[in-house]
Amino acid sequence: MRILIVGGGGREHALAWKLSQSPRRPQLWCAPGNAGIASLATCADIAVDNIPVLLEFARKQNIDLVVVGPEAALAAGIVDAFQERGMRIFGPTRAAAELESSKSWCKNLFRKHNVPSAGFRVFDRFDDAARYIERTPHPVVVKADGIAAGKGVTICGTPAESMAALAASMKDRAFGKAGDRVVIEEYLAGEEVSVLALTDGQTIAVLESAQDHKRINDGDEGPNTGGMGAYSPAPVFTEELAARTAREVFVPIVHAMREERRPYKGVLYAGLMLTRSGPRVLEVNARFGDPETQPLMMRLKTDLLDLIEAVIDGKLSKVDLEWDPDPVVCVVAASGGYPGEIKKGLEIHGLEDAARVPGVQVFHAGTALKGDKIVTAGGRVLGVTAKGETHAAARDAAYRAMSAINFDGIHYRRDIGLRAIR
Ligand code: AMP
Ligand code: GLY
Repeated sequence: MRILIVGGGGREHALAWKLSQSPRRPQLWCAPGNAGIASLATCADIAVDNIPVLLEFARKQNIDLVVVGPEAALAAGIVDAFQERGMRIFGPTRAAAELESSKSWCKNLFRKHNVPSAGFRVFDRFDDAARYIERTPHPVVVKADGIAAGKGVTICGTPAESMAALAASMKDRAFGKAGDRVVIEEYLAGEEVSVLALTDGQTIAVLESAQDHKRINDGDEGPNTGGMGAYSPAPVFTEELAARTAREVFVPIVHAMREERRPYKGVLYAGLMLTRSGPRVLEVNARFGDPETQPLMMRLKTDLLDLIEAVIDGKLSKVDLEWDPDPVVCVVAASGGYPGEIKKGLEIHGLEDAARVPGVQVFHAGTALKGDKIVTAGGRVLGVTAKGETHAAARDAAYRAMSAINFDGIHYRRDIGLRAIR
């Protein structure tokens, strides 16, 4: 079995790591990959949305199965393109991935099919949005409609803040085309949790819960990022909440997608707010989360390759999900300046010492090989991930490993996983 993984972040390193453990011993390729993935797969420097070149590469390498990581590839229609040529690929079609690539489309679907979410309005004109803001009680949440690398969402405490967020999106076009339309949402309070499910369009297999840490600094301060750390399971997400989420969130979404003639296959990622009235959906992603996938892959006992094929073949009901009960904590090391401007090409030290800490896997994100050195190559650089008998033990191991690692300007949060211990 010859597998091509599309992507080059920590999520894709975790997927490659898990696939490499399949008893079916697949051979792995990755585009574009990173320095960590390069030890498990043959990497090819192709952009994730360069579909013609990916198609040609897959044909040349006789690839049997493509596994897609990032939303950009899904939104560009990678699944449609490979399927049209009769090739096996894991992920939703472009039409189905609109759940993530258009927040307004997703919110309208939720409204139509009674999926619990935040109240909202959609605006295509700055003046209309500005008038609405003036007469709306705050806080509200201003969101760019399209994909903005996790940066298109602003929580606004006052109308002045909302006006600034609106102007950035619709006038200064900080997110390009993705921000020409905005969604203004009711602010929901509560604890957040990420819940992912696999679905073949009929059966839904809800994965173990995870908790992301979106803000750049300790105590959830500073701007939003792609995610600065994650742990699994999230103790707040009880079995009762899991059953309720399956019933009230995943089943209606999968059903709605069938009804809309956009049958959904792949990973459904629900970002939930656990409010006093129950779980409500903040966002849906059409892919594995990053960094949630790093702890989830370390806890998953079932063969990932079997699961992926079951999704593609519509046989998910035949596979059981098994999990290691031990918690896993992943701490992300980012480049100085992230999520703003960063420097690349800085040498990373201490990776071998970190990997020697028992229970630890260091997943690479923005890394590259430069001669025989490993250097930084992106905003999020590494996900130091550790398993332990308790959240506290996993956390200790992850931070012990992290303390061995260094590069110029390294930044990581010190409070990842603390909430699970308290
Ligand atoms: P999103 O990309 O839509 O998940 O938004 C990013 C982050 O913004 C979420 O993880 C939440 O922390 C926050 N957020 C989004 N929507 C809301 C909302 N309606 N109420 C409160 N916080 C929100
Ligand atoms: N960790 C958030 C995401 O993958 O979108």
